[in-house]
Amino acid sequence: MASESGKLWGGRFVGSVDPIMEKFNSSITYDRHLWEVDVQGSKAYSRGLEKAGLLTKAEMDQILHGLDKVAEEWAQGTFKLNPNDEDIHTANERRLKELIGETAGKLHTGRSRNDQVVTDLRLWMRQNCSTLSALLCELIRTMVDRAEAERDVLFPGYTHLQRAQPIRWSHWILSHAVALTRDSERLLEVRKRINVLPLGSQHSACMCVCVRPGPACGSAGHSVPHPLCSGAIAGNPLGVDRELLRAELDFEAITLNSMDATSERDFVAEFLFWASLCMTHLSRMAEDLILYGTKEFSFVQLSDAYSTGSSLMPQKKNPDSLELIRSKAGRVFGRCAGLLMTLKGLPSTYNKDLQEDKEAVFEVSDTMSAVLQVATGVISTLQIHRENMGRALSPDMLATDLAYYLVRKGMPFRQAHEASGKAVFMAETKGVALNQLSLQELQTISPLFSGDVNHVWDYGHSVEQYEALGGTARSSVDWQIGQLRALLRAQQA
Ligand code: ARG
Repeated sequence: MASESGKLWGGRFVGSVDPIMEKFNSSITYDRHLWEVDVQGSKAYSRGLEKAGLLTKAEMDQILHGLDKVAEEWAQGTFKLNPNDEDIHTANERRLKELIGETAGKLHTGRSRNDQVVTDLRLWMRQNCSTLSALLCELIRTMVDRAEAERDVLFPGYTHLQRAQPIRWSHWILSHAVALTRDSERLLEVRKRINVLPLGSQHSACMCVCVRPGPACGSAGHSVPHPLCSGAIAGNPLGVDRELLRAELDFEAITLNSMDATSERDFVAEFLFWASLCMTHLSRMAEDLILYGTKEFSFVQLSDAYSTGSSLMPQKKNPDSLELIRSKAGRVFGRCAGLLMTLKGLPSTYNKDLQEDKEAVFEVSDTMSAVLQVATGVISTLQIHRENMGRALSPDMLATDLAYYLVRKGMPFRQAHEASGKAVFMAETKGVALNQLSLQELQTISPLFSGDVNHVWDYGHSVEQYEALGGTARSSVDWQIGQLRALLRAQQA
């Protein structure tokens, strides 16, 4: 039996829309962040309408003025949301109508919230990418400065987390900085693909007031809302000049296909992937620093500003900043995977599923902004313990150098590797350090050993061998610093 509300499926539905559904459907709690770009997009669109003859100059001025007022209210925190404001687009248009009257209704001519929302999001993300890019460059610059100042500090390099070879501390810093420059470059690439105008590629199905019937609009010239107008996905039939919109909003290009323009979120997925990869890099750097900061390593010490104490054990200083950087990676990956799930298998064009994109973008943007700033703070205030780093170097880490010594004397590398291995074994059996073996003992392994083998046991000499570009010799570290500085200059230009 039908309930009082006239619905067949129960008396709980008292209004036209279930209040729970209304809340479920609404995005205003988070898409209000788009208020400024929404006004910006609408101002450009009203100029487009005026040029197309769909608004008079006076009407356009009225709308522009009203939109400025809307923006002012948002900026001053006086904008009052109505319970019916489903999203930022409805809220702004509702307020515009209150301010300027019926003319406000003309603003949406030939526009749909579907192209409006994606335009807003692109405008917001474009600006945000610039902000994040500046923060990332600041972090890289801090790392490069530190690498330059501390390039004479040597410490153990690890592979498989086992002591491998002596390296410059700067070489370690730069290894992470280089990874971040790829992120920085990648972000600019993503920004390029964000910077494309979708506005004007679609017009509203339900509010179409067609003044120029033609092939793009399936019906004859109707002037009342026409739900069947083929323009719902077909494009804009009202002669709106998209090139004008592009120039107004300073986009680099315009989208090529109206169906694709409103439904694709590749640029969001790319942004979330960018963030995921950048977080991968930062989490690895954080992990190294957490290890280097333990008593067992004691290579570095986090400043108090970026660590906390234990509520139980007074002696403890915990690297919370680095642990949080490491852990935030999980949250960012989750958002990236989540969006891809949402996009997978969606039917063509706009579906409400796409509303889910914004929370991911806002959350990841906030996370990245915080992470990048904290990482910069950690790196710039970190203390290093040079003596401990130096003390951690041991002669066995020079076994490869011993092999290179024989290579320089003409021995093929495979044989040299074996000979050096024999020396390591001999030292271990005798219970002495590798550099404690006498020349005579070494000569029992190969006659190519002579007095100059002593040079091998010098860590400074060891790192200086790695002069080839990209290595840990001072000249190569200087070259890396120069390269990174040039890259930063180019990216910030
Ligand atoms: N709030 C919506 C979103 O974020 C705006 C677009 C709604 N479009 C529609 N046809 N209902 O995606």
